[in-house]
Amino acid sequence: MKPIQPTQRDAVYSQPLEKVSDFTFDAQVVNVFPDMINRSIPGYANIIHTIGRLAERYIQPHTKVYDLGCSLGAATLAVKQHCQQSGVEIIGIDNSQAMVERCQTYVDAYRGDSQVHIICADISDVQLEPCSMVILNFTLQFVDPKLRQKIINSIFAQLLPGGLLVISEKVRHSDPVAEELLVDLHHQFKRDNGYSELEVSQKRAALENVMRIDTPETQERRLHDAGFTTVQNWFRCFNFASWVAIKGESHE
Ligand SMILES: C[S@@+](CC[C@H](N)C(=O)[O-])C[C@H]1O[C@@H](n2cnc3c(N)ncnc32)[C@H](O)[C@@H]1O
Repeated sequence: MKPIQPTQRDAVYSQPLEKVSDFTFDAQVVNVFPDMINRSIPGYANIIHTIGRLAERYIQPHTKVYDLGCSLGAATLAVKQHCQQSGVEIIGIDNSQAMVERCQTYVDAYRGDSQVHIICADISDVQLEPCSMVILNFTLQFVDPKLRQKIINSIFAQLLPGGLLVISEKVRHSDPVAEELLVDLHHQFKRDNGYSELEVSQKRAALENVMRIDTPETQERRLHDAGFTTVQNWFRCFNFASWVAIKGESHE
């Protein structure tokens, strides 16, 4: 599948701001989101493509799939494109009304066999139903850290045996020297993609209070504590990582 085509070039932080407010997923961000995420997250297109490939392997017929923090539905649509199993229902959830409205227009424009429902809700409030695949693609990092284990636990509880969670997050290295290098390399990646020094620093300030990132060790411990038997990091570039976590077949 082609990634969602950029609608507008991201220039949200291109002009000096008197005060940099906390980042929100509002209408201004929605307009530039595909361009923003592609130029900001190394490997984003590869991660979306791989989520589609994992859907082919792990989705069980007549089950639900959740895309939590679905934004404009890139992962939802990758699943819809690759899923050949019958009777699958894909549910995208996001708590930004602006994202949900735009996402619905993308979903409506895309044909395919699986049903898709896009819902505006907070993922820490929703009660999931039994499902065979859950996607948390760069979403948990925006959720209150105190709620993260509970969310992972409820995903594990609702996954069917053999079900899959894909979780991608920005991470922080516990070694300060390595952390500084990885942050520098990421900022270089953004400059190489056309962002100015001002854009990089204002965006960083905007995200400081809203994106609280964990170490990879914390992520993996959380997954194991929830009960996942197989936890595998399959992607890493600079300070961005993605894991698959599989619920063992013995969990009846
Ligand atoms: C970086 S974007 C995710 C990108 C998206 N998963 C993708 O693959 O293109 C984070 C999204 O999570 C949503 N979000 C953040 N906190 C949330 C919460 N507590 N409940 C639901 N959605 C949330 C934001 O509105 C935003 O759309």
